[in-house]
Amino acid sequence: MPNRPTSDLLAALEARLGPRGFTRDADAMAPWLKDWRGRVEGAAAALLSPADTDEVEAIVRLAGAAGVAIVPQGGNTSMVAGATPDADGASLLLSTRRMRTIRSVSSQDNVAVAEAGVILSDLHEAANGIGRRFPLSLAAKGSATIGGLISTNAGGTQVLRFGTMRALVLGIEAVLPNGARFDGLSALRKDNRGYDLRQLLCGAEGTLGIVTAASLRLVPAAAARAVAWVGIERADDALGLLRRLEDAMGEAIESFEIIPAEGLALVLRHIAHTRAPLTDPHRWHVLIEATARAGAPSPTDALEQALARAIEEGHAADAIVAASESQAEAFWRIRESLSEAERIDGFAAKHDVSVSVSVMPWLLEDGAAEVEARFPGVRVLGFGHLGDGNVHFNVRAPIGMDSKAWLADQGDDISAYVHDLVRAKDGSISAEHGIGQLKRAEFARTAGATRLHALQAIKQALDPQGLFNPGKLLP
Ligand code: FAD
Ligand code: MLT
Ligand code: ZN
Repeated sequence: MPNRPTSDLLAALEARLGPRGFTRDADAMAPWLKDWRGRVEGAAAALLSPADTDEVEAIVRLAGAAGVAIVPQGGNTSMVAGATPDADGASLLLSTRRMRTIRSVSSQDNVAVAEAGVILSDLHEAANGIGRRFPLSLAAKGSATIGGLISTNAGGTQVLRFGTMRALVLGIEAVLPNGARFDGLSALRKDNRGYDLRQLLCGAEGTLGIVTAASLRLVPAAAARAVAWVGIERADDALGLLRRLEDAMGEAIESFEIIPAEGLALVLRHIAHTRAPLTDPHRWHVLIEATARAGAPSPTDALEQALARAIEEGHAADAIVAASESQAEAFWRIRESLSEAERIDGFAAKHDVSVSVSVMPWLLEDGAAEVEARFPGVRVLGFGHLGDGNVHFNVRAPIGMDSKAWLADQGDDISAYVHDLVRAKDGSISAEHGIGQLKRAEFARTAGATRLHALQAIKQALDPQGLFNPGKLLP
């Protein structure tokens, strides 16, 4: 059990970090003590903002010697309250937001070395500046940080072609719970020196080490892109459409996001300056992005032809390919506003589940109907990354109910039911958001003894005092 920080420890931290790196001011800390969804509020003994890896090392050594817990935080966009300290105020909140140097970008090695606090959109810009791109994007790209993206093994809207963060991390620099700095930044494409600490820290949610920098894989910038908005009537059609497009265009298809009519309606209702891309109402919508490298044929023509054929074959009802970059951005803005629109609309029992892609249509249609029958009045909003088998299966309160009170009362039962529905299809209760604190009980209930014991043995080996991000991930 971690200790409470003593005044000596806090004084030593303040002396080491200086005024820019240390505060106990309640107003300065407040924005970082609540999770993005507003479900959990914590407290911290101090907010530490180290400027570099040396200062992270100093913090870990001082806190470790005193047996005091550390909660790492990047952009605080976690969907499972993974970066929110618990309410006892005994932990130190360690923010990486001052560690925002992109140490290098190389078009020779196709590698970027970015510090943990680098914001995703800044990395995108730096890569574009040398004719490359970092092929992972998500709606929180303006806030999510490299350290957080690695620690949650984030997914997003390009997993279909490039995989999750795990596939893009070539090297990691981190400070381990014993205060040692792991210097694993070398971006070797092949390196078989024993267990892969890089992969172990990826998805560890700050419980095994503090990521301070990473070497990340870059790919050639796309010479052109085509973005289409498609109306379909059944979730089954979406899967058929995806496979048809892949037959026709192969790897050019990079994103394939499914959005229910109610999702589009939520965005149009709550997010200003948005309008429906198609005139007729459709039960489902799909946002598709295809790209082409320099010298390859235009993805627009290929996508238009493939979609025309799909409509003829009955896999789609209607489609529009963006006629300009601004129209393409407008389509993406609808998709990327879904979480915000849902948040404005109220609390929901959020689920970030994954099943085999072939099971997706069942989950989106029949699975949703089962939940709505089991909990009368609730409304399922299922959207997300269809090609990855990842649905954000969010269950909303019956109309007219106080969603916060309803969630407190019904949320756990609903989540257990949804997770069991998914597990019965060999699915996962967490596809990309991780476990954090919101899914910890469900993880303990469903993970199985073998998996739990192995993870606890690893945790015990690296963090025997249990000081790194206590109360997250592991029971
Ligand atoms: P934080 O929220 O600050 O922390 C996340 C976890 O990582 C915590 O456990 C924290 O302790 C740990 N951590 C943070 N920094 C470090 C570090 N340097 N070292 C060790 N541990 C650390 N996620 C997806 O995967 N796909 C999506 O499509 C997606 N869309 C989103 C859309 C919106 C609007 C929002 C708000 C969130 C979305 N997310 C998505 C969730 C979230 O953006 C990701 O989980 C992201 O990886 C979190 O990054 P962050 O920097 O905000 O991390
Ligand atoms: C998304 O894909 O938009 C996110 O993962 C966020 C969410 O689940 O709300
Ligand atoms: Zn997502």
